[in-house]
Amino acid sequence: MSRVILISGGSKGLGLAMVNGFLQQGDMVATFSRSLTEEIKSLNKNPTYLDSFFYQNCDICDAVALQDFVKTVHNRFGKIDVLINNAGAATTQVSTLIALDQIDQILAINLSAAIKLTQMCTRVMLTQQHGIVINISSIIAARGYAGLSTYSASKAGLEAMTRSLARELGSKGIRVNAIAPGYVDTDMSADLSKKQLQQIIRRTPLAALATAEDVFLTADFLASNRSQSITGQIITIDGGLTC
Ligand SMILES: NC(=O)c1ccc[n+]([C@@H]2O[C@H](COP(=O)([O-])OP(=O)(O)OC[C@H]3O[C@@H](n4cnc5c(N)ncnc54)[C@H](OP(=O)(O)O)[C@@H]3O)[C@@H](O)[C@H]2O)c1
Repeated sequence: MSRVILISGGSKGLGLAMVNGFLQQGDMVATFSRSLTEEIKSLNKNPTYLDSFFYQNCDICDAVALQDFVKTVHNRFGKIDVLINNAGAATTQVSTLIALDQIDQILAINLSAAIKLTQMCTRVMLTQQHGIVINISSIIAARGYAGLSTYSASKAGLEAMTRSLARELGSKGIRVNAIAPGYVDTDMSADLSKKQLQQIIRRTPLAALATAEDVFLTADFLASNRSQSITGQIITIDGGLTC
């Protein structure tokens, strides 16, 4: 039986790679974002995914709209097997200059809304007696990066939530893990200059950046029974940069 996978922020970047990866395997996938991309438009039109793909416009910070999305997904597919907290935002700015509303916004998107979405989905998972939560963190949570203190705080919070929830929900058949990618070529990392990227690659043991496909393959592993004894863990995908 196909899994039902709910992915926040699946319109581009890592989220879109996971949407495509799971759909191509025959899973049912539901996702949302604030703006519609060409990729989502073409998935919406693809007859192969008529019954297995669902997209809704939604701002993760709007708790009412978020609850409506989760209810619609549950009604449409009848269950939620996997939640992937992927939606995220970053602003590179030194801590003395970052605008106060930007601090609130990054924490709201990356942390508070992810906690709320997890509550909404795990309530469904508790009734099913099974479920899997995967939080997309970042190597910056553990290592830090100048100019990303708010972002790193939000991701460290997500990792702390991962461990506590794994303890809380393990006995109910729900596993909770996180993936911490290094630098992946998406809109979010587009601010890095060619020079900065080359420096990162030089310092990376495997001499290459991780790809969105690498993140999907790990999410697929964590979303399957092959990882049935793994919970409360943070899995780093960075070519060895932080080893
Ligand atoms: N790229 C990297 O190097 C890297 C490294 C480590 C971790 N990560 C993490 O991986 C995740 C995905 O990042 P990415 O690189 O794929 O970024 P991206 O290309 O910028 O995509 C972010 C996704 O999140 C959605 N999103 C952002 N704010 C939202 C909101 N308020 N409501 C609903 N959806 C929202 C975006 O859609 P809209 O903007 O249209 O809403 C988009 O679909 C993030 O959690 C990020 O922190 C990325």
